Amino acid sequence: MKNLYELNSLTNREIMEILDQAKKFKLGKKCDLLKGKKIINIFFEPSTRTHYSFITAEQNLQMEVTNFNVESSSIKKGESLYDTLKTFEMIGFDAAVLRHPAKNYFKILAGVKIPILSGGDGTGSHPTQSLLDLYTIREEFGEFTGLKIAIVGDIRHSRVAHTNIKVMKKLGMEVYISGPKDFDDNSSEYIEFERVVREMDIIMLLRVQYERHGYSMVFDQKEYNDKYGLNSEKLKLMKKNAIIMHPGPFNRGTELTDEVVECKKSRILQQMTNGVFVRMACLKRSFTEGE
Ligand code: CP
Repeated sequence: MKNLYELNSLTNREIMEILDQAKKFKLGKKCDLLKGKKIINIFFEPSTRTHYSFITAEQNLQMEVTNFNVESSSIKKGESLYDTLKTFEMIGFDAAVLRHPAKNYFKILAGVKIPILSGGDGTGSHPTQSLLDLYTIREEFGEFTGLKIAIVGDIRHSRVAHTNIKVMKKLGMEVYISGPKDFDDNSSEYIEFERVVREMDIIMLLRVQYERHGYSMVFDQKEYNDKYGLNSEKLKLMKKNAIIMHPGPFNRGTELTDEVVECKKSRILQQMTNGVFVRMACLKRSFTEGE
């Protein structure tokens, strides 16, 4: 069995194997290896894309799917995360998907003997989001080496940014960050947004995560969009083959305007679709032999 908590421990080859498997699934390959396996989706934080694309991936693999309800569970009586996961192992679940607000939550779960796939750990990692981002980039450009990406926005609070910066550099991409300096945590080289628009192959916009930091924006929506967001005017300044990505959910009118979401350069909707096939590949990997 294999857990999937973060991507640092995966080699480039292992990452490529997941992307290759996801491509096979997208092209229609069937797999009954996981048919009838019981899986539980445990989300302690809100989610639409991750939660429901995992459900879809599990259903595509003919798994038996259960969704955990935190509010009606013994978590409310003080049960620990470890005891909750161990309970699911002991009552017969074969795997779990887990999103939790605590960074590195998985460090206390070593005693759980079923595979756990992370749907995000606080501001730590979001491995399946990163993998679907990589899938979308490879689908567009065919390779990673030498591509220039800027991740723009609330870097400091973004598990997507932190995961992507490391893995994309490992794969040979040039990774920059941009946006309000308050969100710059020195996790990569900072460049001004004017350069982002004109020079990048990929512009990855991030949502301002008001719920994580209660940050009272010094900008209103329009001011943020003028300084750090994309709109129809800035689309015209981008490189011919450049694309726009966003992990979602997005704040329309802030980091991007309505006309950007489904414009020709946007791959935001494809990212959502690709997430299903990448998660199918991650689930299959979890049931293959090895640590
Ligand atoms: N991108 C992402 O993690 O979205 P959700 O929070 O909707 O799962």
